[in-house]
Amino acid sequence: MGHAVFAEGLRKRFDRKAALDRFDLAVPAGTVCGLLGPNGAGKTTAVRILATLLRLDGGRAEVAGFDVAREASQVRRQVALNGQQSTVDDVLTGRENLVMWGRLYHLSKRQASVRAGELLEQFGLTDAADKRAKHYSGGMRRRLDLASSFIMRPSVLFLDEPTTGLDPRNRGEVWREVKRVVGEGTTVLLTTQYLDEADQLADQIVVLDTGRVAAQGTPDQLKSKLGGDRIEVVVRTSEELPVVRGVLGPDAEVDPDGFRVSAAVTDRVAALTRVTSALASHGVEVEDIALRRPTLDEVFLAITGHKASEVRA
Ligand SMILES: Nc1ncnc2c1ncn2[C@@H]1O[C@H](COP(=O)(O)OP(=O)(O)OP(=O)(O)O)[C@@H](O)[C@H]1O
Ligand SMILES: [Mg+2]
Repeated sequence: MGHAVFAEGLRKRFDRKAALDRFDLAVPAGTVCGLLGPNGAGKTTAVRILATLLRLDGGRAEVAGFDVAREASQVRRQVALNGQQSTVDDVLTGRENLVMWGRLYHLSKRQASVRAGELLEQFGLTDAADKRAKHYSGGMRRRLDLASSFIMRPSVLFLDEPTTGLDPRNRGEVWREVKRVVGEGTTVLLTTQYLDEADQLADQIVVLDTGRVAAQGTPDQLKSKLGGDRIEVVVRTSEELPVVRGVLGPDAEVDPDGFRVSAAVTDRVAALTRVTSALASHGVEVEDIALRRPTLDEVFLAITGHKASEVRA
């Protein structure tokens, strides 16, 4: 099979403003593509067009081999969209939510109940199946939302910011479920504002900036463009900053207000050991030292030449 999602020169305007401006995308079947971008970049617009919920103004797109404009009903049979807003009904139990969705998809009562049972099991919700959804944690609710997308076994799943607002543990639970469905052959296009999420889940990342692709590649390719990970050292007094800078090298960035110095590293753990012992031998009192991934703002700055916050709608 070729591309599960393919878009060429997509355009969409709202009033006089372009939300998508010649947007291209190609997602091989069975892989995860992460659409990364700040607020207003056009992520939801792209996903809604591909899921046939929004009409395109120009260009063309195919999903699961069908044209989104001319063969929308065939596309709809192959896709599911998990939007930024939850579809979970709080008053119903997890099981009742899934049965209701099954009925909406025209399953018989019996089929809907069997499918609900299978999905509760697959998404690790069997124990909570008969609790009302209002008592679910954020991660359980998101998993129930995901489970509801799988009622009709879509071949392509669109996830619009699947973990926004979740704490780290709940995010991890959702990531695990996404990895599981991908392992079973589903193609996933997910939007996110978080580099670490795209990094965890995506085979390929497309960086969207004001409706256009600003960069794309594997997570490693994008990070190496930025010089990889960074080491960050926080000290107690500003007098120590020049010493730390001396240890981290001439390209280190100094944040005098935060008593913080950071620099790009390529050899992660070895760098951490080297820097720690060099600082100790200079008698520097370290408040904190850590390795961290570049932030989305740093990715944006490096790729587009402007900060993500400067392109907000
Ligand atoms: N229905 C609409 N009517 C008018 N303008 C819209 C509509 N939907 C989106 N836009 C505009 O299109 C642009 C792209 O919006 P979109 O929702 O696709 O961005 P996004 O990347 O999903 O942002 P977020 O991270 O906030 O969800 C924004 O400037 C937005 O204001
Ligand atoms: Mg959005």
